Amino acid sequence: MYGNIFDTHAHYDDSRFEEDRDELLCSLKVKGVSHIVNCGCDLKSSLSTLNLAEKYDFIFAAIGVHAHEAEETTEDDLAEIEKLYSNKKVVAVGEIGLDYHYDFSPRERQIEIFERQLILANKLNLPVIVHDREAHEDTMNLLKKHRPKGVVHCFSGSAEMAKEIVKLGMYIGIGGAVTFKNAKKPIEVVEYLPLDRLLLETDAPYMTPVPFRGQRCDSAHIAYTAEKIAEIKGIEAQELIDICNENAKRLFNIT
Ligand code: NI
Repeated sequence: MYGNIFDTHAHYDDSRFEEDRDELLCSLKVKGVSHIVNCGCDLKSSLSTLNLAEKYDFIFAAIGVHAHEAEETTEDDLAEIEKLYSNKKVVAVGEIGLDYHYDFSPRERQIEIFERQLILANKLNLPVIVHDREAHEDTMNLLKKHRPKGVVHCFSGSAEMAKEIVKLGMYIGIGGAVTFKNAKKPIEVVEYLPLDRLLLETDAPYMTPVPFRGQRCDSAHIAYTAEKIAEIKGIEAQELIDICNENAKRLFNIT
């Protein structure tokens, strides 16, 4: 069993945890999970993320508006969210970004909301947690323009793009996708990626690694992702977990 696991991206406010949320979260500490960043996607989930962070010492909060919610989000919502950043458990602006796969919000609105939150993060001196699905070009252009601290989570780009992100001083989040049978790009990214730029994540309840793919994901499943990455890097899984824990603490300013 491993210890010191830092899950940099999870959604424990999701309804799929409704039945057993507290029981599960309590069990994670016993399974070696030391830190979790729970990510909000709109005002409602940012508030429930903060509730979780206030209830559990090992849960930290990222709050913000996801690409999917960009269209529905009002100026009042944005103002309410902005007030929440003064809470000490908030460690990032997220998750924010662009999703041209689903296009649930018009692209112009996605870009506007993303850019406003990049500016806000820089003003607050907080890192960002970026979602980029099939929007690599616009995402990179905005990151180059605003140069935030942060991580591109559940990274789906090429090793070339990973290099550009590292050049910007940002981190790359690798989750369960690296264990999938068809994982070619994520493996190339991990092969390239310097160890000090790597973060482990689940995106729980989604992106469950093999051999549990298809089931509900939780932070303890990171063990399988870590084993795969460690194998690619030629180091022990616990060593990888420890390095990623240090990386996450550095990024999110957690002592
Ligand atoms: Ni997410």
